[in-house]
This record gives sequence, structure tokens and C-alpha cells, in this order.
Amino acid sequence: MQIAKTIAEMKALRMKSFGSVGFVPTMGYLHDGHLALVKQAQDENSVIIVSIFVNPTQFGPKEDFRTYPRDTERDLALLEKERTDIVFMPSDKEIYPEGYRSWVEVEKVTDRLEGSCRPGHFRGVATVVAKLFNIVEPTRAYFGQKDAQQALVIKKMVADLNMNLEVIVAATVRENDGLAMSSRNVYLNPQERQAATVLFKALTLAQNLWEKGESNAETIRQKMTSLISKEPLAKIEYVSIADAETLEELTEIDKPALASLAVRFGKTRLIDNTILE
Ligand code: PAJ
Repeated sequence: MQIAKTIAEMKALRMKSFGSVGFVPTMGYLHDGHLALVKQAQDENSVIIVSIFVNPTQFGPKEDFRTYPRDTERDLALLEKERTDIVFMPSDKEIYPEGYRSWVEVEKVTDRLEGSCRPGHFRGVATVVAKLFNIVEPTRAYFGQKDAQQALVIKKMVADLNMNLEVIVAATVRENDGLAMSSRNVYLNPQERQAATVLFKALTLAQNLWEKGESNAETIRQKMTSLISKEPLAKIEYVSIADAETLEELTEIDKPALASLAVRFGKTRLIDNTILE
């Protein structure tokens, strides 16, 4: 496994790579959700590149950039075990040197949900991912359904800007009790960790209601909200049933819908989703 810390080193290694390149961008503190993306990339490509970069521009001023969990040694050991070929781990200055001035804005699909709760978040995500794509030049890039809106934003950017790669979205990996794996789960104290299982319960409820024939989005939203509200440690930011492509809120589920939620447990903000189709 080779480690590139500068853009020049990364590009030099890329030049020497043959065949298809599978790329998994991450912010590190890797868990089985990240590793599932690496495994899928491994199955479908000849060269595997993973980036680890906690991207400052996608965090709001009051968000957790400084405290975001980091453990490079452990990450590298896990990636080595998955037979990753190249790890790109640039510094902040390498990606955003003095005088950096260019940004990628994806409109509309970023208006709602995470976009409205976290102003500027997707501008930071789209910008760093565009830069990483230009540096790594992957054949295929892998993203998790866990961050459903992020995956839509990246797909839209790639289509609109004619970027020459395929975007692949992989299923959410969960703990045994259903909690979606997330680097931020380490922030939860034992009581919050227990309370956080309500997210998957609410998504399962939505799935069950839909499968039993309920197609009124507001009914499903209300039942999810009331279930989560019974958990005293949970503070809801949003519960949404939206068009899975445009993310516009639905009244009637007459096309594939994304049931998604953002809920706070103490200082920790968690998101999760499921597709109703
Ligand atoms: P990060 O949160 O580290 O996630 C990296 C990738 O792993 C994302 O595509 C995310 O959707 C996926 N992922 C996270 N948890 C998952 C889970 N439980 N199951 C499946 N996939 C999961 O997302 C980011 O980093 C950043 O925004 C990034 C795209 C790297 C840009 O900075």
C-alpha cells in the first residue's frame, strides 16, 4: 500500500496505475460502512484508491470540524488489510492553499434536508469531491446510501459537469441493533447510544406502513415523528418523506420516496434513511 500526502505524489502514482481505478473518498475514522465501499470497489476495479481528508469547508462554524474523530494509524491498518493500493491523505493546505477561490455549487437538490439544516455543507462537499476526482481520475467512485442527499448531489455534479467517471451508491451498513454505522457514533454516551436505536425503528415503521398499503406521506411522517418523540433523549431536526430523485416533500407516495431523518442526541447529530418503493 502506498501513501500519497501531496497532490503531486498522488498524480505520479495514478500515472503508474493500469486498468480501472475504484475510488472511495472518506474523512477517515473508518468503520465497516467505509470498508464495504472499499470491498465493492475491490470487486469491480483493478486499482483501489482511498482518500482520508477531513474537509474543513463542509463543516459549519459551529460544527465539529475540530473534534471530528481521527485515527490515521488504525485507518491505515484497516485499509492495508483490505488490500488498498493507494491512500491519499493530503493536508488542509495542500487542498486549500492560500488564495483558494473556486467553489462548486449544485443547485436545487441541495435546497432541502441536510442542505437547509447545514448551509454551505454541500458546497464544501461538492468542491472537495470535484477536486479529488480531478486529482485521482477514478473510473468509478463509491458513495454510501447512508448519506442519500450527498450521493444525489455528487451524481448531479458529475452529470452536469460531464465528469468522466461512474458514481456507484452502496447500501447502508448497520450495527446489529439497526443503528447506521457512522464515525460520529463514538460521540454518543451509553444512554444516547441506546436511545439512537429509535432512528432505525422509525424507518422500519415507515417501511412497514408503506408495505401494508399506506401511501399518505403525512400519515407516515406523523407516525415516525410520534415514535421518535417518545424517546426523551431524541430532538428531531426533520422527518421527511420526499421524492427520491428531487427531494421534494410528497403528500402522496406515488413514486419512489426517500424516508429520511435527522435527530440530535445531546451534542450528536445523526442522519439515516430508507427508500420506499
Ligand atoms: P465520510 O462520512 O467519511 O463517509 C465516506 C463515505 O462512506 C460516504 O460515501 C458515506 O456515505 C459512506 N458511509 C458512511 N457511513 C456508511 C454506512 N453506515 N454504510 C455505508 N456507507 C457509509 O461522506 C463523507 O465522508 C464526506 O462528505 C466526503 C464524501 C468524503 C467528502 O468530504
